Amino acid sequence: MKAKLVLLPGDGIGPEIISETVRVLEVIAGKYGHSFSYTERLMGGCSIDQYGSSLTDETLVDCQAADAVLLGAVGGPKWDDPKAKDRPERGLLALRKGLGVFANLRPVKVHPALIDSSPLKPEKLIGVDILVIRELTGGLYFGWPKGRDVKDGRERAVDTLEYYDYEIRRVMELAFKLAKGRKKKVTSVDKANVLESSRLWRQIAVEIGSQNPDVTLEHVLVDTASMRLITGPAAMDVVVTENMFGDILTDEASVLAGSMGMLPSASLGAGGPGLYEPIHGSAPDIAGKGIANPVGTILSSAMLLRHSLGLETEAASIEKAVDETITAGARTSDLGGKLSTRQMADEIIKRL
Ligand code: IPM
Ligand code: MG
Repeated sequence: MKAKLVLLPGDGIGPEIISETVRVLEVIAGKYGHSFSYTERLMGGCSIDQYGSSLTDETLVDCQAADAVLLGAVGGPKWDDPKAKDRPERGLLALRKGLGVFANLRPVKVHPALIDSSPLKPEKLIGVDILVIRELTGGLYFGWPKGRDVKDGRERAVDTLEYYDYEIRRVMELAFKLAKGRKKKVTSVDKANVLESSRLWRQIAVEIGSQNPDVTLEHVLVDTASMRLITGPAAMDVVVTENMFGDILTDEASVLAGSMGMLPSASLGAGGPGLYEPIHGSAPDIAGKGIANPVGTILSSAMLLRHSLGLETEAASIEKAVDETITAGARTSDLGGKLSTRQMADEIIKRL
């Protein structure tokens, strides 16, 4: 098949992990007879430097016209001025919104060979296989009003946790659909004892749950969920939650996998191009050194093949190669190893 991909390497380690991932995609293309075209665009801090905007209209249009978008990471100390009117992260949020990718799939699996890389007790980690579905285009990140003003002579800052019923319904429906291909259990995470938006969230979870009686639905408050991720992660399967709750819980969950560098993500909407990115950030401290772990991005490209291009065999072959590479003991420095980004990718490619 032919597919048009837009690459957004972004900032920090982004370009290093994206170029290794493209090598993997090219091996897949060669082996299975596909032809992928790549259009590279700036997004994030690099785009602010070049165009004065973290996401230009042209780049968004190119992304919307692609079959899928592969992103590295954005941000860095250079653009951290709290008074700046644009920030790298704004570009990422505008891209997610502009692509309408409301569901962010973040699978968290613990590779048996990496159990000792996590600070958790090994017995807690056996069998961990969680799919967090983070609502991505609503909630606290996007609610209105938002901003700063002066009220009663005091400086004030406002963020709003806002959800429409349809925004919850569509992500909840996807959670139940995906649960059917797994252990048929959905954990809906909210803060319904305090937040009105969470009470609507729970109401809709119950509504979708009643339409899917073959799937077990449980509600867990977000504070409890953060605890259970540590005390009993193997009991969790599909977890669906609000945008910022999902952001926080997936950083926590990455500790189970031994390193943030391991975890991929797919952001999906209603049929348009998907957006694929590792869950880690731009790691400015190691940028340019060629030592970043490329696995999160390489696994994101597998999700791209699966979800945007329907290439299940190809996706699974990347995942298998990564699995075998880790089993064989290949490690970048985040996991206590010595391999460079390039060498780690070579190890994976060797097994493809
Ligand atoms: C993530 C990141 C982003 C988010 C930042 C960079 C805006 O933390 O993808 O998890 O908060 O969504
Ligand atoms: Mg995050």
